[in-house]
Amino acid sequence: MYTDPRTAAARDPVTVPGLRALKAAGTPIVALTAYDAGFAAAMDPAGIDLVLVGDSLGMVVQGRSSTLPVTVDDIAYHTACVARGLHAALLVADMPFQSDADPATALHAATRFLQAGAGMVKLEGAGFKREVIRHLVDREVPVCAHLGLTPQSVLRLGGYRVQGKAAAAAQRLREDALAVQEAGASALVLECVPAALAAEISAELAIPTIGIGAGVDCDGQILVLHDLLGLGQGRRPRFVKDFLAEGGSVHGAFTAFAEAVRARRFPGPEHVY
Ligand code: KIV
Repeated sequence: MYTDPRTAAARDPVTVPGLRALKAAGTPIVALTAYDAGFAAAMDPAGIDLVLVGDSLGMVVQGRSSTLPVTVDDIAYHTACVARGLHAALLVADMPFQSDADPATALHAATRFLQAGAGMVKLEGAGFKREVIRHLVDREVPVCAHLGLTPQSVLRLGGYRVQGKAAAAAQRLREDALAVQEAGASALVLECVPAALAAEISAELAIPTIGIGAGVDCDGQILVLHDLLGLGQGRRPRFVKDFLAEGGSVHGAFTAFAEAVRARRFPGPEHVY
């Protein structure tokens, strides 16, 4: 690979307001995780809109059994790597476990991520996190919220399970979604929630929802890079599809994913709860 990725950009950069414009236009947002410059550089030409440096890196890159050990230094390092490969997609950095435990700590970590090249940060939960979101947004840090299955809650939840199935849990999720929007979030990841509930929330919110295991009626879809490439270990979650098998190459896999999301062919009925 001897081309300079800095000369390879062909699309206008995707911005935070641009995400809302995609929702308004009814154009699904295509999102993937990435952890290094090489894969990130292949995402722009495939038309990926948003790239997340997820704390999933703890599991898929570091080989740990949860996301809890991931540090601010880890996310800052991988964000800087990805930023060197990306020129058009919006780069989002995940706030690792306890880096968002209070507003001041969160601002310190988020500032590092923006200085490493991110255009937005993502954080899990509602409740007291609404104050954290407000604090960041008031200080010019765009925030993507994350509800449903929040992997940093794995100890309380006792595992990685679909959320919002019972009526009371579904109602709490609807209220939390409105609350994070009201706190200033610019987007919302919905992970592992029943498709009908995700559709309702997506219709009710002004900000875009980005689903993972949340059905085709979200305003966009995200997958973990390793899952999309068929590298998942152990039992494959229902929402995962191996796009490398379909696309035949890494670039083909990214393109096939982008096309399937934009045509609302992915996720199919077999991928939803
Ligand atoms: O960490 C991550 O990769 C995520 C996605 C699953 C949305 O949060």
